[in-house]
Amino acid sequence: MEEELQLLTREARSALESVADGEGLESLRVSYLGRKGRITALIRSVGALPAEDRPRMGQAANRLKKELELEFEKAEGRLREAAERRKTSREAVDVTLPGLALSRGRRHPITATLEEVIDIFSGLGFALESGPEIETEYYNFDALNMPADHPARDMQDTLYLEDGRVLRTHTSPVQIRTMEKTEPPLRMICAGKAFRADTADASHSPMFHQLEGLMVDRVVSLADLKGVLTVFARRLFGEETRLRFRPSFFPFTEPSAEVDISCVVCSGTGCSLCSRRGWLEILGAGMVDPEVFRAVGYDPEEWTGFAFGMGIERIAMLKHGIDDIRLFYDNDLRFLHQF
Ligand code: DAH
Repeated sequence: MEEELQLLTREARSALESVADGEGLESLRVSYLGRKGRITALIRSVGALPAEDRPRMGQAANRLKKELELEFEKAEGRLREAAERRKTSREAVDVTLPGLALSRGRRHPITATLEEVIDIFSGLGFALESGPEIETEYYNFDALNMPADHPARDMQDTLYLEDGRVLRTHTSPVQIRTMEKTEPPLRMICAGKAFRADTADASHSPMFHQLEGLMVDRVVSLADLKGVLTVFARRLFGEETRLRFRPSFFPFTEPSAEVDISCVVCSGTGCSLCSRRGWLEILGAGMVDPEVFRAVGYDPEEWTGFAFGMGIERIAMLKHGIDDIRLFYDNDLRFLHQF
């Protein structure tokens, strides 16, 4: 019996050493110390020994049982610690690793340019208005002194909807909408998309952005228009910028002008950007035509005004030296990340 005791002890110890998890440990405990376990059976068999051997063997068996119980407790502790260590190493953070840079969004160059231009005119007292991108022919053309069948309508290649409405070809209809709901005097700007049946190339896009301006008061003159546009151009392109008015034609202004700025690259001496002219066209403008005032119920004998409209893509291209309008719409991040 003594031998059996020793054997059991050795067996149990080596089994305990190789046990890998709580479940294995529990089944070991059952097989040695459980009610039908081998140690339990051994202790029970002490009763069958000759009376003189019983006390010694009984003590030995009980000692072994106590020892094993202790070993089991230790093994349990070891397993728990190991599990704990595995968990911490899984969750460990190496604070010396370089951080992951968050890629932040940024404003599209068209949005940024629009906001800059709006800012300048807001500072000059112009209120920001808006209007629909799908317009009626009345607002897009008729009220702006471009009646049906008038050749002036052909100036803009229009995208028509089946119900006869149009994708606005310019932001000028917002002038009409604003005057209809406002008593003069007024100063307004409006910015947004315009659409034309143009094939895309380096300088054309069927969708583009415009900024429109209108000022109405009792004695507004061409000098006021020139003053406002000069302040605008200098704020946007630099204080040395010069302005040039060239006579032109728009149905809704009389007189009308195309307005140029001195070249942003050569300042007027002539370079490839300005085709050696020294000047860059940036907008159309003029004094509001009396017909437009009549269309909105303003008395043209009492009210005078100026208006202007510019392409935002063109302004952004000049500001940043961009040579192809299509770059704005390609969503190529290599381009967009430069602004
Ligand atoms: N609407 C014109 C265009 O898209 C631009 C323009 C010219 C607007 C003269 C105006 C203006 O307000 O007075 O070509």
